[in-house]
Amino acid sequence: MGARYNLMSYGHSLLTLHEKTSGSCLLCFFGVQYKEENRIRTVKSELNTKSPSEPAKTIIVQQLACGGDRNFGYILADGPGGSAYIVDPSPDPNPVIERLERDQYLLKGIINTHGHGDHSAGINEVLDYARVPVLGHLSNPRADMPVSDGEECLLGQIPMRFIHTPGHTADSICILFGGSHLFTGDTLFVGKVGGTHKPEMALAQFESLQCLMELGDHILVWPGHHYGSSPHSSLGSERLNNPFVKRLYDFSAFLRLKENWVQYKLEHGIS
Ligand SMILES: [Fe+2]
Repeated sequence: MGARYNLMSYGHSLLTLHEKTSGSCLLCFFGVQYKEENRIRTVKSELNTKSPSEPAKTIIVQQLACGGDRNFGYILADGPGGSAYIVDPSPDPNPVIERLERDQYLLKGIINTHGHGDHSAGINEVLDYARVPVLGHLSNPRADMPVSDGEECLLGQIPMRFIHTPGHTADSICILFGGSHLFTGDTLFVGKVGGTHKPEMALAQFESLQCLMELGDHILVWPGHHYGSSPHSSLGSERLNNPFVKRLYDFSAFLRLKENWVQYKLEHGIS
């Protein structure tokens, strides 16, 4: 049994260690309950409503280890056993499918952050489980429900916005769920960014990251791989700690870091 966390929340934005005992601990940040069990992390948060008389809306995010190179798949839901979308259930979709069945979610669709095989290889197996649309950028051949930059839809009453973030690939998208959870695929990792093959794609990624960083610091970052020091982060934390984000003021500095990344990692003890 891995670490188990139960998080009740009342603070704001930054994670604060509130209590730690053997085998369990309580963490606090704004509007979020956080539970970690084995390799599955569940975050339950509340979406602020416009009117105080309107009941708060529950948001559920589950992060699951899906094999490959420390790939993460996700379940996004509008409450326990509610309607759900899944993000990148790949390359091994079974942890996601098992969790959908166990928690009795009603699957509405599959979102593919980009077409690379390690993010899309599990889609067919999920389609065998449930015939649902595949959402992806309009340049993503896997998408039978293409989305464009800025397009929004609702999961129940929870808004979901698609942000086109070319760079790692031309079809990369990020998904902003409930205004507070950002699924970044291979665009932004904890402490790192996705690889690019040409300077023009590095420039596209530089501009995509600049757009992402215009969102609020409190927004949680849910990456496509567990490449960083923690499985998730926030935009505020990335602004402070991610060496690529810290170079978003100057493309040549950003590109230089990409070109010298192996050396930089050695010098800074980054694995
Ligand atoms: Fe990728």
